[in-house]
Amino acid sequence: MNSQTQTAMQQVRQWLEQAKHVAVLTGAGVSAESGVPTFRDTQKGYWAEFDVQDMASVSGYRSNPARVWQWYSERRELMLHVQPNPGHTALASYAQQHPGKLTLVTQNVDGLHERAGSPHVIALHGELMGNCWLNDACPMCDAQAALSAGGQPPQCSACGNMLRPAVVWFGENLPAQALQDAEAAAQQCDLMLAIGTTGAVYPAAGLVFQAHQRGAKIVIINPDDTELDGIADVCLKGTSAQILPELFL
Ligand code: OAD
Repeated sequence: MNSQTQTAMQQVRQWLEQAKHVAVLTGAGVSAESGVPTFRDTQKGYWAEFDVQDMASVSGYRSNPARVWQWYSERRELMLHVQPNPGHTALASYAQQHPGKLTLVTQNVDGLHERAGSPHVIALHGELMGNCWLNDACPMCDAQAALSAGGQPPQCSACGNMLRPAVVWFGENLPAQALQDAEAAAQQCDLMLAIGTTGAVYPAAGLVFQAHQRGAKIVIINPDDTELDGIADVCLKGTSAQILPELFL
């Protein structure tokens, strides 16, 4: 870490100490060092390999359910073999040591913040390991009894309704309570950290703008440039597993 970054870190530590309330928005980059691919990495990101509309929209699911189900099954399988990294752990330890001070909002669906021990994680985009029904459930729809055949998603034997991953797809609303809680944190915080996100997806990225408009300090932690850098007070250039353990010393 160069001396410029060290000085910036010192400044952010001071803001952390002074802040009454800290909001954190995380994205896929936080899990990169656990071995979970990001979405927009130009080489290895999911959206370099797959079309977002095919894999993350209701219309994509309806047009090829087996293919989409298979992709989510592979992502779920990966989750069984990865662990929280020092970035997740540093956030969790800080929150545990300062009860009520830090609100963690994540776009990630991987559950690694929860596994690291972060309390009350606000998951804006749902959870990879959960399922819900594609259409409104009929009285016979029972997720435990749903049957899968030939690589197709599990279906209700009565009405044919399919299970789908409980993640938010493009064109869908975020879970209302999660968004409300996240917006409240963005409005109330004195300091907001945006970590491992390009800031390209809304409403999540809008939280950082809300916090900025309310006068909060904005700190970006990312090895690369992001769409949020223009409103940042400090950009800490580095990975979350490097920066966060040092920041929350
Ligand atoms: P992206 O894939 O868009 O961005 C990942 C960010 O992490 C980039 O800015 C990278 O520079 C940064 N990054 C990579 N490695 C890092 C590391 N070790 N430490 C810190 N930062 C690192 O992911 P998101 O911004 O999270 O939506 O994408 C937002 C949403 O778009 C996702 O939640 C997903 C996706 O489509 C849904 O699934 C609904």
